[in-house]
Amino acid sequence: MEAKDNVIDTAETKQSIGRDWKEGVLYQLYPPSFKDSNGDGWGDIGGMLEKVDYLAELGVSAVWIGPVCDSPMEDNGYDIRDYYKIHDAYGTMEQFEELLVKLHKRDIRLVMDLVINHTSDEHAWFEASRSSKDNPYRDYYIWKPPAADGGPPNNWRSFSEESAWELDERTGEYYLHIFDKKQPDLNWDSEAMRQDLYEMIRFWLEKGVDGFRLDAINMISKHPDFPDAPQDARHPRGQQFYKNGPRIHEMLRELHEATFGRYPGTLTLGEAPTVTMDEVVRYTAPERKEMDMVLQMELVRMGKDFGDPWKTDPDWSPAMLKESVVRWYEEVFNRGAYALYLSTHDHPRMVGTLFGDRAGVGGTEGKSCNDAAAKAIGTFLHTLPGTPLVYQGEELGMPNANYRSLQDYRDKGTVSAYQRRLAEGESERDILASLHARSRDGARSPMHWTGGPEAGFTDGTPWIRINSQAKETNAEDEQNDFSSVLNHYRQLIRLRQQSPVPARGDLNMLELEDEWLFAYVRAAAEERWIVLINFSNQSRSCRIDEKWACLIEQGELLLASGLATSGFPKSGIPLQRRGDRKDDCMLDLLPYQSAIYRISAAD
Ligand code: GLC
Repeated sequence: MEAKDNVIDTAETKQSIGRDWKEGVLYQLYPPSFKDSNGDGWGDIGGMLEKVDYLAELGVSAVWIGPVCDSPMEDNGYDIRDYYKIHDAYGTMEQFEELLVKLHKRDIRLVMDLVINHTSDEHAWFEASRSSKDNPYRDYYIWKPPAADGGPPNNWRSFSEESAWELDERTGEYYLHIFDKKQPDLNWDSEAMRQDLYEMIRFWLEKGVDGFRLDAINMISKHPDFPDAPQDARHPRGQQFYKNGPRIHEMLRELHEATFGRYPGTLTLGEAPTVTMDEVVRYTAPERKEMDMVLQMELVRMGKDFGDPWKTDPDWSPAMLKESVVRWYEEVFNRGAYALYLSTHDHPRMVGTLFGDRAGVGGTEGKSCNDAAAKAIGTFLHTLPGTPLVYQGEELGMPNANYRSLQDYRDKGTVSAYQRRLAEGESERDILASLHARSRDGARSPMHWTGGPEAGFTDGTPWIRINSQAKETNAEDEQNDFSSVLNHYRQLIRLRQQSPVPARGDLNMLELEDEWLFAYVRAAAEERWIVLINFSNQSRSCRIDEKWACLIEQGELLLASGLATSGFPKSGIPLQRRGDRKDDCMLDLLPYQSAIYRISAAD
């Protein structure tokens, strides 16, 4: 097909997809691990084209595709060498255009990953920039002379846990890299650099791309003085001086005006870690024209990031989940917008971490427990305020990859942390246990399409090992099994399409004595939902207010999930009245049980 035809076609289709972004469900596709079509073991656009129907049947309204531009792949594409070229291993520009058309025909929008806080050190701009101090591209990046002792200009540390500065012998100066030294930070104070980026973004918008996930976007404005951070600062040291920096809002408004704002309907979804609620509102209030939504990053990091990137937080409790959900609702929901997610390519899968290690799933209780927990997570995600974002494989209940040795890991940060810790004298057993709990490779194992060889992901050797659970958990089997996690997700997405409640309703989190039990009411003008979830692997009971008990009894059960062998008590309702006293209504939920009831607004 002619590229030109594609452009016209996509532009027209974009106009016809009229729904509000907030009402839909977003799906994150991680390109290396989604589907390989040519047997080289690496996912590609050909593979995505094969699976458009799968995405359409799932019902998602947009797909965010991780970076597919040309890259040396030091960080799986988050290190871009050429913004105008599709990376060879992913395919061609023509295939990308074909994908846009095919997705649009199925009423699905395409969201690209826009990595503009940094580039690869192999990008032509950086090569020119490092060549001499007076090169016109010098100020496209952040260069500083050494400190008085010849060391780095300040004590900031990068995400790879080393200094955030790298000395470049050629000119004797240091450049800043918040991430890896192969990912130098762009200098957003340079007008020429910004204009070049805007031109590149308009190139993709002209193609008909519907939106962008803005990678590390709250890091583009750095403190002009680059001060030292206190020594005891949390990982990564110095972040208070480059996150949500002094010019961030001005920069975002200019970016919007020069690019997205000229293409109405374009979605911008910002990755903005470590933000206050007020900051989120400033980023996403529609009248400010900065971004449409930010990612709600608290849930996915819960129990994980607490100063040490390789430890889990022993104080984590489900009460923290509730608190975070309610705070975002109360402080942001009606003033800005956010996407809610529980799994992504940067963290181990939620089903294995929060509910696995802590509550027994994925261990001895095996598949039925895993699937019940996965469904409970799905119910939670699709019934709370915030636009749901589903990470590939989550809709199948894919567990974390069971990697057991260093050879299984591919993520550079994971491998270097292993080596550093071993050199520091930690036992291999302890290190591997923490990698299993925390490495982002846990969520990067390839999609399970079938129970056959290499999970139907590739005909060759996959770039990272397939999870051994693919035989029990895969799309082919789940498609035809009404009780599968996949069908639970499909029904949740359908329910969202049929009712205004999940996207627009108010939230009232009911106070229960048991922290593992969640009960909340979502109310829009037309109807109300009551959602019940047990996030533990034990049966649990606690008192529930008579008023809510009555409403549940009268309600219509929209969707329920739990262990395959379980069911609700005979009445079909997880309630028991014990005695005559009003406060004797008990909510009884089986392990990982979830239920959604509809009650009319008049009740
Ligand atoms: C974002 C991406 C992550 C990447 C980093 C640097 O956090 O999600 O995968 O390593 O940015 O671009």
